[in-house]
Amino acid sequence: MKIFFVILLVSCCWMACTARRMPASSQASAEVEHGRDKYMQYCQKCHPMGESGLGPALNNSPAPGFVKRFQVRHGLGAMPAFKKDVISKADLHDIMRYMKSMKREEKLPS
Ligand code: HEC
Repeated sequence: MKIFFVILLVSCCWMACTARRMPASSQASAEVEHGRDKYMQYCQKCHPMGESGLGPALNNSPAPGFVKRFQVRHGLGAMPAFKKDVISKADLHDIMRYMKSMKREEKLPS
């Protein structure tokens, strides 16, 4: 039983360390920065800074990544579809990274 807690403690520390190291990685921050540029270009007017505008807020959306990517590719209601010739696969990947980075810390009651 004791060993279980030791393993738990060690893995928590490990996760805390890697989580803190992540944003420092220049590769990751370059992706987020590029994602922000693309977001400003294509998404900002309806989802200002991830908050709700014409579209709903994105920074507290519980929808999983593949649902969001589907929404971007196919559109829904007032949201237009963005095909691959407009937003490339790599661009969309970076936009997703940016959206994750602006996610609100606390979970709001929905
Ligand atoms: C012309 C305005 C407009 C633009 C531009 C736009 N959206 Fe939207 N978006 C909307 C609207 C309106 C909805 C709600 C659609 C509905 O449910 O009918 C929406 C919904 C969404 C959702 C689903 C939110 C949820 O959790 O239910 C995601 C994710 C999303 N947009 C991402 C994006 C991204 C990423 C971009 C940029 C590539 C973008 N949108 C550009 C208007 C827009």
